[in-house]
Amino acid sequence: MSADRWTISTQLDVSYEIRETPSLLDLDNPTLADVLTSDSQGGTKLVIVDRAVARLYGARLERYLKEYNVPHRLLELLGDEGRKTMGQVLQVISALNEVGTLRASDAPVAIGGGVVLDVVGLAASLYRRGIPHTRVPTTLLSLVDVSVAAKTGVNFQGFRNRIGSYSPPPLTLVDPAFLSTVSTRQISNGGGEIFKMGLIKDPALFALLENGGPALVANKFQSPEGAEAIRRAIAGMIDELRNNLWEKDLRRAVDYGHSFSPLVEMRHVQQLLHGGAVALDCLLSAFIAHGRGYLNHHEVDRIAATATGLGLPTWHPGFADIDLLMQALADTMRHRNGNQNLPVVESIGHATFLNDVSAEEIADAAHRMKRLGEHQESELVRRGTNR
Ligand SMILES: NC(=O)c1ccc[n+]([C@@H]2O[C@H](COP(=O)([O-])OP(=O)(O)OC[C@H]3O[C@@H](n4cnc5c(N)ncnc54)[C@H](O)[C@@H]3O)[C@@H](O)[C@H]2O)c1
Ligand SMILES: [Zn+2]
Repeated sequence: MSADRWTISTQLDVSYEIRETPSLLDLDNPTLADVLTSDSQGGTKLVIVDRAVARLYGARLERYLKEYNVPHRLLELLGDEGRKTMGQVLQVISALNEVGTLRASDAPVAIGGGVVLDVVGLAASLYRRGIPHTRVPTTLLSLVDVSVAAKTGVNFQGFRNRIGSYSPPPLTLVDPAFLSTVSTRQISNGGGEIFKMGLIKDPALFALLENGGPALVANKFQSPEGAEAIRRAIAGMIDELRNNLWEKDLRRAVDYGHSFSPLVEMRHVQQLLHGGAVALDCLLSAFIAHGRGYLNHHEVDRIAATATGLGLPTWHPGFADIDLLMQALADTMRHRNGNQNLPVVESIGHATFLNDVSAEEIADAAHRMKRLGEHQESELVRRGTNR
């Protein structure tokens, strides 16, 4: 008797929207209320808010929801990388159950930085095997990067985003005014992803950062140049993801700065923010590119100076730990299905990929990066004593 065999093949259309919405919590801006009520069957909405955001904007948010008669329950979650845990995911799932969230209507809303958005995104993708939600990013990093992302995730056993899913929410509402309360350190952190985007695909964006980095950080991207940098970063990210949303192609230019940094960041999670770790990886990779004859000395110096202007680190001992760098690359290669696919900048604003980078090249690049760090430090000391 011959065995039967069945196959099922189907396609899933996916589309989602990222919409700029200035003054999101102003009572005369109905956008959020429209979103909350358009799919409503009168149930309670779960509104998940980053605790820091709740402290700063909680009263305004409550007033807004009351004004528009939105039945809701607030759930506060914690931001910061160490809180990107399954524990917080389960907290969201419990709350969804408690308020009786429906399969498709009365979708929850997440308001916060990348950690809260990734945690809620994962919870929403698991609850009833996937429900919609709306996301509102409130940090620079989440505005320019997470707002476009299809991915969710939490950290696990010391590895970044080891558990996660691909499930973009239908709508993300972007209001850069939230940045006015974000700390300068966190603004620089978000600057790390914008810096990456300029380096791999947008020379004009890089020029904005190179010429005006300190001012952008000082006024928290609230100037016209800041708005342009945010728009260019979002548009660049969309352009890169659009044709490779499910990452079937594991050669991704947007992975620039994300090859060595994930493990170094997790090992030094108390000192390094994600964007800082990304900037350090960008610089290490720039030294690797320099060794290959892509970037000249002057360009590497400009890259480092631009990072410094944005308040990003150009040196950290984690990037002198060659064993750690090699372990990081090995784990990244598993993520890239066995290949290095190492994005490097061949000239500012243009990326290419390497697949044959040797341990010696990495050690040499790390050594040069350390020398630059030491040089910058001695310059600072010299200027300090001259003052
Ligand atoms: N899903 C994706 O594809 C994707 C893409 C990029 C980054 N990420 C993830 O994003 C995370 C980093 O996000 P992040 O940089 O926003 O960090 P974060 O969420 O930890 O936020 C940083 C800090 O700012 C606080 N905060 C948030 N909004 C604020 C506001 N308006 N005013 C004052 N304080 C505020 C938070 O409570 C937190 O303490 C990482 O875990 C990273 O993996 C995900
Ligand atoms: Zn990143």
